[in-house]
Amino acid sequence: MNIGMTLTKFLLEEQRRSPDSTGNFTALFSDLVVAAKIISREVNRAGLIDILGTTGNVNVQGEEVQKLDEFANETLIRTMEHGGHLSGMASEEMDEIIKIDGKYPKGKYLLLFDPLDGSSNIDVNVSVGTIFSILRCENGCDLSLDDFLKPGVEQVAAGYILYGSSTMLVYTTGNGVHGFTLDPSVGEFLLSHENIRIPEKGKIYSINEGNSRHWFPGTGLYVEKLKANEKGYTARYVGSLVSDFHRNLLKGGIYLYPSDRKSQKGKLRLLYEANPLSFIVEQAGGRSSNGEHRILDIVPQELHQRTPLIIGSRHDVEEAESFWKLQEA
Ligand code: AHG
Ligand code: MN
Ligand code: MN
Repeated sequence: MNIGMTLTKFLLEEQRRSPDSTGNFTALFSDLVVAAKIISREVNRAGLIDILGTTGNVNVQGEEVQKLDEFANETLIRTMEHGGHLSGMASEEMDEIIKIDGKYPKGKYLLLFDPLDGSSNIDVNVSVGTIFSILRCENGCDLSLDDFLKPGVEQVAAGYILYGSSTMLVYTTGNGVHGFTLDPSVGEFLLSHENIRIPEKGKIYSINEGNSRHWFPGTGLYVEKLKANEKGYTARYVGSLVSDFHRNLLKGGIYLYPSDRKSQKGKLRLLYEANPLSFIVEQAGGRSSNGEHRILDIVPQELHQRTPLIIGSRHDVEEAESFWKLQEA
């Protein structure tokens, strides 16, 4: 293991290898790390301070806003807005895009995030996470919604912070996927998982089978096929996408949140969840699809667009896609 390799040092080394780099990106990441540490501290104290439960509000997605959702959202916005590296942000918890206040300098990147993924799990001490995606902003200060509606292939970086038994940050800038674990005693993210590769085929499948009565035929046939497989697939479903994804990334497997009769467009959000995790999975050698198309090629029409998602080990996702031809409304 590379003892003492902090995330900052690792980013600086990546930056040195790219002669055109200005260092802005590394600085943006440092701000993000500060936000991650603050959210991690708060998540770890849940139960001790008044941070559990709902705020009583409903977000743009029609979901109950948890206190920690709001805290994570505010922390990210306040930590990132004055760094001078961003032109704007978009959050799963906010109706509209966030323009950087005129009193702060603007930069050439956009940050999109799901501040707290899996928030229904917060109250029961199950892993949650923050997912982020970074785009380049061509128009600088003339920021508009269109600047955010870019296909996932245009992401310059993506990652997540997982608040689990330890806090981990996993990211890609298009040069592989790297994982860092927060060492609370030194307050730094240390390199723990260099160049993560997802196994080509796994034995885990992750899907909410409680929805099976709403499924289209292809989903049911695929899941039945997995159960009949002699190799013995095992079901694992935490209910926090970021946790289910992380486990399958390391162990191999497939995660599915398909469209069904209840959620015709799927549930997960393209810009804050599907795109960043798809960039990561592809960089790790895996695959991601909406059943018909590669997720990263989808051109978004709206900020909070939902998408079906099939993501994980390459062979497993390919096999699932072959069943999607059988789907019907
Ligand atoms: P969020 O907490 O950001 O709204 O996301 C919840 C998502 C995702 O984390 C998870 O995989 C999925 O919802 C679970 O949905 P079901 O409860 O419908 O299975
Ligand atoms: Mn989420
Ligand atoms: Mn969320």
